[in-house]
Amino acid sequence: MHPDPANQQPLEERVNNRSHRPDSDAFRAFMASSWAPASNELPARAEVADHAARRRRAISEQFKSERLVIPAGALKVRSNDCDYRFRPHSAFAHLTGLGVDHEPDAVLILEPTDEGKGDDGGHHRASLYFRPLAGRDTKEFYADSRSGEFWIGPRPTLAEFKALLGLNTADISQLEVAITKNVGEPAVGGISIRLVRKVDENIDALVDTARYNTAKNPDAMDFEVLDDLDAKLAEALSELRLVKDAWEVGQMKIAVAATAAGFEQIIKSLPRAVAHQRGERVVEGAFFARAREEGNELGYDTIAAAGNNATILHWTRNTGSVNEGELLLVDAGVEADSLYTADITRTIPVNGSYSPVQRKIYQAVLDAADAAFAVAVPGRKFRDVHNAAMEVLADRLQEWGMLPVAAAVALSPEGQQHRRWMPHGTSHHLGLDVHDCAQARAELYLDGVITEGMVFTIEPGLYFKNEDLAIPAEYRGNGVRIEDDILITANGPVNLSAALPRTPEDVEAWMARLS
Ligand code: GLY
Ligand code: MN
Ligand code: MN
Repeated sequence: MHPDPANQQPLEERVNNRSHRPDSDAFRAFMASSWAPASNELPARAEVADHAARRRRAISEQFKSERLVIPAGALKVRSNDCDYRFRPHSAFAHLTGLGVDHEPDAVLILEPTDEGKGDDGGHHRASLYFRPLAGRDTKEFYADSRSGEFWIGPRPTLAEFKALLGLNTADISQLEVAITKNVGEPAVGGISIRLVRKVDENIDALVDTARYNTAKNPDAMDFEVLDDLDAKLAEALSELRLVKDAWEVGQMKIAVAATAAGFEQIIKSLPRAVAHQRGERVVEGAFFARAREEGNELGYDTIAAAGNNATILHWTRNTGSVNEGELLLVDAGVEADSLYTADITRTIPVNGSYSPVQRKIYQAVLDAADAAFAVAVPGRKFRDVHNAAMEVLADRLQEWGMLPVAAAVALSPEGQQHRRWMPHGTSHHLGLDVHDCAQARAELYLDGVITEGMVFTIEPGLYFKNEDLAIPAEYRGNGVRIEDDILITANGPVNLSAALPRTPEDVEAWMARLS
């Protein structure tokens, strides 16, 4: 018999059917009592606070008189009532200085003030809206599995974040008013908003509604113009990260050091990897353990690719075996607690020594990387780095009889045949995002000038697939990439990842030492 539909329990309540949460008045009163008082001690101002203030000033300068809304983002469901680990949006982290899992649903608002009256000395007053720690006398304390202290541990209070970050802080219950008040067209005395979109869909909806409700002629609203307003903010925030400050460089060094430690664990894991049916997963796991021990997380999914899998650029499935005689390409990065990530690739011989053909391929990639390093100097174009690497690789491919045309023809825009074996870019900016500064304009990125304080990768590779009939059989089934993280200084590039061996001899010696 079917139950009476009118008496059915709503679906959203059924998540609680597996257990019963007490709700009696007696229970609530008892839960609110007899806890040792929480410490009132406030944290010291974080070192990053002054840097974050300077970043906010730079943005304030570009958007005087406008309200800027920068959300951290919301928790994302992984399955049913389990969420992914929270990571705030990088623009939010950059402007607040917050890292690790701070803080779901938070929003930074830069509110326009009179010229020079902003609290960072700019044209805006910065306020961080978030859900503060609920007291132990609240139901949230023991009943809210997403934010209650009993479930997830202590969370910051408004006063703690204010002291730590040097920012005004406010309860998230005030957020809607803060975003929507006085919104309107500047021509009639309203405040125009710019939003970092697609980070928190609730905030997108709030801003869209506020704009619609206050438009002079809502039905004629030009969404392209509004999208452009928001895109300009995303662009400015991305370009603000093209040059790293001293604190960011320090964080990059922390991320690189943890990543180097992770690569050592990989070498030590090789005997187990070779013995295991899914040896690539053994390698992935060895690195992941270090990422969690030393940092916040991985900066991106690890590529652990042995043999022919090393020729698959984004091989993150990592289900393959790891066999003696093969090359193992590992592309991995630890994300520090501050959310800055390294991005390093090493290609090692599983049995500890490169075969003659593996060494030949490896040396070509290393020579390409060294040529790229040589031009990674202040004043040169970013795109010169890639071009220098391509010249070396095209020459080598010609020497090996693989190119159907002369190297010079391949290097011309109409040719590019060499890219069959190196289809990706040689460099990208690195920082809070593994592919950092992604919304920067081309004239500041690919066509931009290399500047002191930039941090980017140099990562040439050659990928010869088993099924590639355009190359001699002896080369097939080998993929090589060497990826380093470099900091541009007035004296040229500094290889932040130099602690990890790069030459074939050094890699072999390193493996011998660790095994
Ligand atoms: N790991 C991604 C990249 O190298 O760009
Ligand atoms: Mn990279
Ligand atoms: Mn990489």
